[in-house]
Amino acid sequence: MSTIATDPRPLAAGPGLHVAGPSPVPTTLAAGLTCRLADGRVVEHANLDHGASAPALTTVKQAVDSATRSYASVHRGKGHASQVSSRYYEAARDEVGRFVGARSHDIVVFTRHTTDSMNLLASALPAGTIVFVFESEHHATLLPWAPETTVRLPIPHTVEEAGEILEAALAAHPAAHRLVALTAASNVTGEVWPLHRLTPIARLHGARVVIDAAQLAPHRPVDLRRLGADWVAFSGHKLYAPYGAGVLVGRRDWLDAADPYLRGGGASVAATRTHVAWHRGPARHEGGSPNVLGAVALAAACATFTRHRAAIEDHERALFEGLQDALAAIPGVRTHSLFGAEHDRVPVVTFTVEGLDADLVATILSVEHGIGVRDGRFCAHLLVDELLGRAGTAIGSGAQQRSAGAGSAVRVSLGLGNRPEHVERLVAAVRDLAERGPRRTWRRDVQGVWRTPGVPEAPIDLPW
Ligand SMILES: Cc1ncc(COP(=O)(O)O)c(C=O)c1O
Repeated sequence: MSTIATDPRPLAAGPGLHVAGPSPVPTTLAAGLTCRLADGRVVEHANLDHGASAPALTTVKQAVDSATRSYASVHRGKGHASQVSSRYYEAARDEVGRFVGARSHDIVVFTRHTTDSMNLLASALPAGTIVFVFESEHHATLLPWAPETTVRLPIPHTVEEAGEILEAALAAHPAAHRLVALTAASNVTGEVWPLHRLTPIARLHGARVVIDAAQLAPHRPVDLRRLGADWVAFSGHKLYAPYGAGVLVGRRDWLDAADPYLRGGGASVAATRTHVAWHRGPARHEGGSPNVLGAVALAAACATFTRHRAAIEDHERALFEGLQDALAAIPGVRTHSLFGAEHDRVPVVTFTVEGLDADLVATILSVEHGIGVRDGRFCAHLLVDELLGRAGTAIGSGAQQRSAGAGSAVRVSLGLGNRPEHVERLVAAVRDLAERGPRRTWRRDVQGVWRTPGVPEAPIDLPW
């Protein structure tokens, strides 16, 4: 008889947990990573870019290593390893479903990431479905829908205005099928979107709702029922499970009625010369060999988050407290938000430094201080243009865009890999930069990359 070799590690006090105060905070594999600064010093890397991609949790790596021993085909073999892998895959589906409070009629479809999940749903909309989406969305949620049946909603500046805009748009565009696509937390400002106000409006108008939880899931509970949503999408790599899996969870009716997202083996039940019968349920949209290690990683992250929710939230609250105010208090530094500084947010803050390109600021933070942040427009160009007062910016040539780095900002996003020293280092570095300007000479090279004399690109040891 096949047995699944589950790892009985005690999560409350075992390896992979860093004890901070009374509650254990899950550790990541990046703990202790160092980098060399321009002045030759070697410091601990302060990764303040968790919102882009988060380092693997130790528990995730352990689960993946364990599952790798029995790695084999999923739903394709009778051998022991195939049976174990298949059961891991389906158990991972259950774990992820529980993580988002999936209801009995919901299905969990493994995808590559949030972008893939949204494109899957876009491919499954009944003909004529009208999609409503705020222009402030990340491009993953803004762009997958057919332009001719998409109603773009203007960016609101208050919670009330968001509700009014949605209400008016739904009233003005009746249709048999309607979908409202909303973010749960902004990847630019970190602001938690007023879903408690918006999803009831959608429901009242008979519209369905899909939630982009890519930025919320790594920080707060995501519950389909409480969100009043039909579907939720998020990415493993932002939830400390960077093994190539994401997910779309929610109602099955539109998904079952749609053409398979990827036509091929796994999605098909039977094929003759003239006919193909397709699976219903998740398999319909999971054509090809499933990414079982990605699914295991995502499930392990969900399990770790569920077990250590309070500790994670305490850790992030303590780290984030005061950061926005500390940055905003530096003369010449502007932090950006839609709904105001007091609005609830996940630990993300976006700022600009007067007179300095965002990419230069990010480069200096990295090369001179060992701090990793993201700069640019964060795949949310319309929102960043709005926040920086550049609405209507034309799409320019690469050279134009590089010419000033203008229209972009710096984003700090905190997570489990951070300690108070990282945040203190950031504030001190930004203050120094804003007050005194760059301490070294910086010039763009022909590719538009900022360089400082005597500091070549850091060498790396290839990991293979
Ligand atoms: C709010 C939000 N939605 C969607 C995405 C897209 O995620 P992915 O690149 O994993 O598809 C991101 C990524 O930054 C995001 O922040």
